[in-house]
Order: sequence, then C-alpha cells, then structure tokens
Amino acid sequence: MTELPALSGQVALVTGASRGIGYGVAEALVARGDRVCITGRNEDALKEAVDKLGADRVIGVAGKAHDLDHQAAAVERTMEAFGRVDHLVNNAGTNPVFGPIADLDLDVARKVFETNVVSALGFAQRTWHAWQKDNGGTIVNIASVAGLSASPFIGAYGVSKAAMINLTVQLAHEFAPKVRVNAIAPAVVKTKFAQALYEGREAEAAAAYPLARLGVPSDIGGTTAFLTSEQSAWITGQTLVVDGGIFLNAGVG
Ligand SMILES: NC(=O)c1ccc[n+]([C@@H]2O[C@H](COP(=O)([O-])OP(=O)(O)OC[C@H]3O[C@@H](n4cnc5c(N)ncnc54)[C@H](OP(=O)(O)O)[C@@H]3O)[C@@H](O)[C@H]2O)c1
Repeated sequence: MTELPALSGQVALVTGASRGIGYGVAEALVARGDRVCITGRNEDALKEAVDKLGADRVIGVAGKAHDLDHQAAAVERTMEAFGRVDHLVNNAGTNPVFGPIADLDLDVARKVFETNVVSALGFAQRTWHAWQKDNGGTIVNIASVAGLSASPFIGAYGVSKAAMINLTVQLAHEFAPKVRVNAIAPAVVKTKFAQALYEGREAEAAAAYPLARLGVPSDIGGTTAFLTSEQSAWITGQTLVVDGGIFLNAGVG
C-alpha cells in the first residue's frame, strides 16, 4: 500500500462506497489525508473496502441508505470514531427499473425516491445537527445527467436525480453560510451499476464522448475532493456536470 499523507484533520461520510463511484470518492479523500466513514449494504464487501482504503483511517457502517436507524448509526459512529463530520457525500443510489414511466409501478417509483432523494435529505439533516450547523462543512450529492434532461429508459431515476439537484439548491440556501452544498451530475462512469450501458461495446459507447472515453470513479473522486475543499469556497448550490463533454452534443446537427 502507498504511504498515506499526514492527516488533514477533516472527516467525511460517504454513502454507498464499498465499490464504484463512492469508493473512488473515499479513495480521493483518504489520499488527501481525510478520515472517512463509508457505508453499503453488504457487510463483507464493506469490510474489504475498509481494509483496502486503510483501516486506520476508514471505518464502515453497514446498512440501507433509506433506513433511519442506519442513518443515525452511520453519523453516530463517525462522531464516535473521529469526533467530527465535516463532509457528507450522498452517493448511494438505485435504479431498479428500465422502460417508460407511463406504466411504472408506483411502489417502485416510491422506492427510487426513498433511496435517491429522501435518504440524502435524512443524512443531510443528521450531519447538520450532529456537527455542521455549529462547525460548518460541505455536502456533495451525486446526481446524474439523467436529472438534467429526459432519459428514455430510466425516467423514474432521472426524475429522482432532478429532485436531488433541487434538494441541493434548497439545502444550499438553508444551510448557508455554514455549509456549502453542491451536486455532481456524471454521465456514464464505468461501475457495476452502469455496466449494462457499455459492456461489450465500450469503444462504441465512448465514441459519443468528445473526450473519447467513459468516466472512471476517480473522475468523480477528484471533483468531490474539489467541492469539499477550500478551492471551491465560494461555490454553493451548483450542479457540476462531469460528463466527458457528452452534453456538448445536445442540439448539434
Ligand atoms: N455509474 C454511472 O454511470 C453513474 C452515472 C451517474 C450517476 N451515478 C450515481 O452514482 C452513484 C453510485 O453509483 P455507482 O455507479 O458507483 O454504483 P455501484 O458501482 O453499483 O456502487 C454502488 C455502491 O453503493 C452501495 N449501495 C447500493 N445501494 C445502496 C443502498 N440502498 N444503501 C446503501 N448502500 C447502497 C453498494 O454496495 P451494496 O450493494 O453492498 O449496498 C456500492 O458500494 C449512484 O447514486 C448513481 O445513481 C452513477
């Protein structure tokens, strides 16, 4: 394992971080010296991630993002272990259905909102009360480009990510000036979640991107490190599109 830098004194809670984007975010924050609490449902996968990231600086709290007891436990354990929670990254998300929303089962729609939007609000409320309202900090919500336009096959997911983008605006307004709240809207990032979108045809999928490749978790890790640092001290309520330039294609030809 590469040697870690001196501790930054900052602490982050990253939801859904045993793999994929959340793991990439945790890796970027650990690499700058933060101590980090990561969450995920599968306990073994979470433990493996903690060990890989460095068990002296990272803890894991297993549970489902929408479960209120889990939210409480994750924030409490972070405070117990590290004494503060400066940064919250709401990354855990779900997309259990494909197809038009005209006939979407409304219970499924509720589940999508529960995990992608209500959970993010729950974690934000808890970190606010536990630490941020008195001491400041940042929140980064991992939204999606699907929240910025129509999404032919993943409509309910897109609607939930649009809600997350406005949740970002609302929280940024309510939590200012103590806490800055921003979102990141990625296009396709190579993870298990997005695998079906490019598996077996990555070159073809990447060709649509002006930057000629799909995203990788460290792309979002780097952007999150920026939004949780002093480098972005005058930015709040914004959604940063991190998409290899794919949005540049909109309206062309
Ligand atoms: N990949 C993309 O192209 C892309 C693009 C735009 C936005 N996003 C967003 O980025 C976020 C992460 O996606 P990803 O691609 O990194 O997915 P991923 O590779 O499937 O990883 C998801 C992570 O979250 C955990 N997780 C999943 N559901 C959870 C839940 N209900 N409660 C707690 N933890 C949960 C998973 O562990 P367990 O399974 O053990 O719980 C895993 O650690 C999501 O919000 C997604 O909407 C992804």
